[in-house]
Amino acid sequence: MRKFLQRALAIIDKMDHAQIRVLLEDVAMESELQEMVLESMSDGVVVTDKENRILLVNKSAERMLPFNVGDPAERVLWECIRDREIAAFFRRALSGLDKVIDREFTLTEGFVRTLALTVMPLVRQGAIQGNMIHIEDVTEKRAKEARLRRAESLAALTTLTAGVAHEIKNPLASIGIHIELIRKAIGGRQTVSSAKVSENLEVIKEEVERLNRIVVDFLFAVRPMNTELQLEDPNPLVRELLDFLRFELEQAGIALELELLEPSPLIRLDAKYLKQALLNIVKNSIAAMPGGGRLRVESRRKGNTLQLRVSDTGAGIPEENLDKIFEPYFTTRDFGSGLGLTLVYKIVKEHLGEIAVSSKPGEGTTITLSFPIPQKEKRLIGYQEESR
Ligand SMILES: Nc1ncnc2c1ncn2[C@@H]1O[C@H](COP(=O)(O)OP(=O)(O)O)[C@@H](O)[C@H]1O
Ligand SMILES: [Mg+2]
Repeated sequence: MRKFLQRALAIIDKMDHAQIRVLLEDVAMESELQEMVLESMSDGVVVTDKENRILLVNKSAERMLPFNVGDPAERVLWECIRDREIAAFFRRALSGLDKVIDREFTLTEGFVRTLALTVMPLVRQGAIQGNMIHIEDVTEKRAKEARLRRAESLAALTTLTAGVAHEIKNPLASIGIHIELIRKAIGGRQTVSSAKVSENLEVIKEEVERLNRIVVDFLFAVRPMNTELQLEDPNPLVRELLDFLRFELEQAGIALELELLEPSPLIRLDAKYLKQALLNIVKNSIAAMPGGGRLRVESRRKGNTLQLRVSDTGAGIPEENLDKIFEPYFTTRDFGSGLGLTLVYKIVKEHLGEIAVSSKPGEGTTITLSFPIPQKEKRLIGYQEESR
């Protein structure tokens, strides 16, 4: 309660009519102001008491939530809601059955809308007095995010396609030249040297193979990913991958250091794809250490993310190449496709993760992947403050 009210109540018996009138006017003005704020908010607010009966519904909440006809005041919240799923969510969240206190719902009544609902306990003097429900219409926000994702993948596709066009130019030119040479040889007067022609044919065959590889790799890179993210412990898949590579590492004279968080926080991942991403990264490390070295794989927690880091003691990446290595077709290796890290990037993005590189030529390279650790239970502000 407000201090001035508390003080006034303590001396109310001694107040005369005029003083009480002033006090009431103050209180009325204050409550009008609060009502005005609540009613003008674009977000919806619903307040319920301990028995989950509705105490307050602001205009936006009235507009957004599918209420049954009739006055909702003092009725149990979930009994007034037309949408079965939302009603069930309220019932579970308000009666403390579910730990999940925020969720998004898509309503298809009328035009399609996505609502984000958050349930928060109202705490007063250390006890729960009821709940407050916050409702936000996130339809536009989500649509915008989807548009951005599409634009991003379209931009990536454009670079990739430009890359392919550039890549196939050289082999095509070379094939053209060798066909011309064969044509000249056959059309000329002197006898055709079959050795010469088969040399030309050999080049043509190699170039056709190169073209084929470019096309296959391209298709692999642009194929939409059907990642299915599941809340999982990443440690087993990291171990499986390193087991798979153990022999190759030994042969290359590379010592393996593994340091994983135990137990690891769970992250949303698709094991098949995440393994592929790590494989591409480790393969690059192996290629960067032709004379042997050390490979370190570790996981650690940083804020609300889980980091997987792969470090090597290889050749390193010159600074001017650092921002190119994720580009499609960028490679410094004779038989590189330049698509390895492009795919890693794509996979990490599908996992809503981030990727960072640090490298010192001559010393080595560290690739860090960070994945969000899903926060199932939001901290309840009311509780925190009360428990201090
Ligand atoms: N661990 C590493 N150490 C040194 N250079 C690296 C490393 N990882 C990637 N690179 C550089 O990035 C380039 C692109 O890598 P990637 O996309 O996997 O293509 P590719 O392996 O086919 O060359 C490599 O050619 C190399 O120059
Ligand atoms: Mg590679």
